[in-house]
Amino acid sequence: MKNDLHIDAVAEYYDTHPISEQQIIDKLRRDGVDIARVSEDTLQDHDQDHYGGVSANDALAALAGIDDGCHVLDVCCGLGGPSRYLAHKYGCRVTGVDLTESRVEGAIRLTAMVGLHDRVTFQCANALDLPFNDGTFDVVISQEAFCHIPDKDRLVSECARALKPGGRIAFTDILATDSTTDATRERLQREMTFVELGSQDAYRRQFEREGCAVVKAQDVSDEWRLILVDRLAMYRSLKEQTVERFGSAHFTKRDNAYSFFVSRYETGELGGYRFLVRRKSSPRDPGS
Ligand SMILES: C[S@@+](CC[C@H](N)C(=O)[O-])C[C@H]1O[C@@H](n2cnc3c(N)ncnc32)[C@H](O)[C@@H]1O
Repeated sequence: MKNDLHIDAVAEYYDTHPISEQQIIDKLRRDGVDIARVSEDTLQDHDQDHYGGVSANDALAALAGIDDGCHVLDVCCGLGGPSRYLAHKYGCRVTGVDLTESRVEGAIRLTAMVGLHDRVTFQCANALDLPFNDGTFDVVISQEAFCHIPDKDRLVSECARALKPGGRIAFTDILATDSTTDATRERLQREMTFVELGSQDAYRRQFEREGCAVVKAQDVSDEWRLILVDRLAMYRSLKEQTVERFGSAHFTKRDNAYSFFVSRYETGELGGYRFLVRRKSSPRDPGS
């Protein structure tokens, strides 16, 4: 029940997000782009809902060794920006899953718009219950989404299960630090639907239990602290459209919530990590 309420809260959060399929199309039109002829090279600058834009996708691709022989699962794919980018640049096949129906529908339409639908497909699904057979994918990726997911043991188990033996998981996540207070956790849960913040040590233990090894854990907190200041400014620049779509009370509520979130990077209460995890191919495989 608690989980169902949480699922509704996440879907509502993303249904009323300032970045949306329509907002992206409106922005392209304002830039004079002909939507009937838009290419992934243009779309990729508008549809990435994580920190660091397309270079963050390249960082994951380099860590995981993504190439044209890979089938990649993008967990919590949003509007599908990273999925399309990886397929376009590296030639891989990508399957994206997301909980929020409007995100998945938008992802499918944007992908058809740039003609990548033969290699990039999407499904509406909960990351805690992935609709795939064991050992389906070479690589799993995810960005800035696991913080929304309540049962990290189950999440890690599902991601590991979907991977082939020897497969890689490359992901970034918003993490708690030693100084995260209960009041901050409670507020982020209520206002940002960050139901459970992971930590570096907890992820290491969780992946180890699932027959995986954390090969790399890169601290990106300093990088994100700067990016998030710009991101707050970007959301503020969308004030007119956000107020028009959802009203001024919604804009103010979101603005307060996001400002508080960004300020936790200044206080050191939040951090960010980029992980490379490898599923061991046998119990004797050291994993790295
Ligand atoms: C910050 S967005 C990231 C989107 C995408 N990874 C990107 O980089 O553009 C987080 C996404 O996680 C999705 N999400 C949250 N909880 C989920 C869950 N339990 N299962 C699947 N998707 C979930 C949300 O619907 C949202 O689209």
